[in-house]
Amino acid sequence: MTPPDRRALRDAFGGFMTGVTVVTTREPDGSALGFTANSFSSVSLEPPMLLVCSGRSLSSHDVFATCAHFAVSVLAEGQEDVSNVFASFKGDRFARIAHAPDANGIPVIDGAVAKFSCRRVRSIPGGDHTILLGEVTGFTHSDGLGLGYARGRYFSLGLERAAVFADSTRRIVAAALIEQDGHVLLEETPEGMRPPQFEFEAQGNLRAAMEARLAGSVILGSAYSIFDDRQTNTHYTCFLAQATQGCALAGRLVPIDDLAGLTFETPAIAALCTRFALEYGTRDFTLYVGDEASGDRHEISKEP
Ligand SMILES: Cc1cc2nc3c(=O)[nH]c(=O)nc-3n(C[C@H](O)[C@H](O)[C@H](O)COP(=O)(O)O)c2cc1C
Repeated sequence: MTPPDRRALRDAFGGFMTGVTVVTTREPDGSALGFTANSFSSVSLEPPMLLVCSGRSLSSHDVFATCAHFAVSVLAEGQEDVSNVFASFKGDRFARIAHAPDANGIPVIDGAVAKFSCRRVRSIPGGDHTILLGEVTGFTHSDGLGLGYARGRYFSLGLERAAVFADSTRRIVAAALIEQDGHVLLEETPEGMRPPQFEFEAQGNLRAAMEARLAGSVILGSAYSIFDDRQTNTHYTCFLAQATQGCALAGRLVPIDDLAGLTFETPAIAALCTRFALEYGTRDFTLYVGDEASGDRHEISKEP
């Protein structure tokens, strides 16, 4: 196969998501050998059998192809370092990674989500690899999630799930600091004060959505703070705004000078309002972009 075809085939195989295992055995002199493998597959339940493919170019290939016993440790998420050691470290791999002998005396990896002890049944030639067919003589397993591998990269199902969950449940909230004659309009909540806010289905064009909600009551100014409040899983965008004559919005007009002494709904909203009080003195407003703990400030024009 020509090199580009080889590359393409490797990429095509890489589209198949796998777990990651470490395959281990002992040389006749007793020294331990092991390599990282994602070519693992279960084969049979009765009798219990599995297979793994060992590259003919591996320094340990011949030992695995003729050994009496080998073991397969299915790595847990978080064990990327174990995989890397058994894929590329050239020194004593077992000196770096915690392990213990199985019933056949073959080392298995501590913390692996499943450990299979095998009697090698056959070594089947498979092109540039040898298929090691093993009969499972013993195994242990835990409920933990295995480490994933796809397209040449590790992945963790637990982290992916958490990210999807966080994203799908994240609230999109837009608010406005509405100023009128040295006062700002605030809503009262059981936890404390906050600028009037609205929840939206999607990020979309929040400015247009806010203008529609506040129609006639305010003139919307610059975005003033854009942050993720991880405590409440909320993406928060706050605009500066000026109340129009006859503004009919509900809430309490609080003197801006008194903001520092108030109790606010969340620490992030407290930081937003106290920063507004400080910057209102000089009208040197800055746009904050970040999260509730840290972020960047960007200069914006003097308004409202
Ligand atoms: C995620 C991953 C999966 C791998 N799967 C296999 C495999 O199934 N078979 C194989 O022969 N090598 C596989 N390798 C490569 C071997 O682990 C690597 O070539 C071997 O440890 C080199 O050992 P050596 O230095 O003793 O020759 C994989 C490497 C990684 C990172």
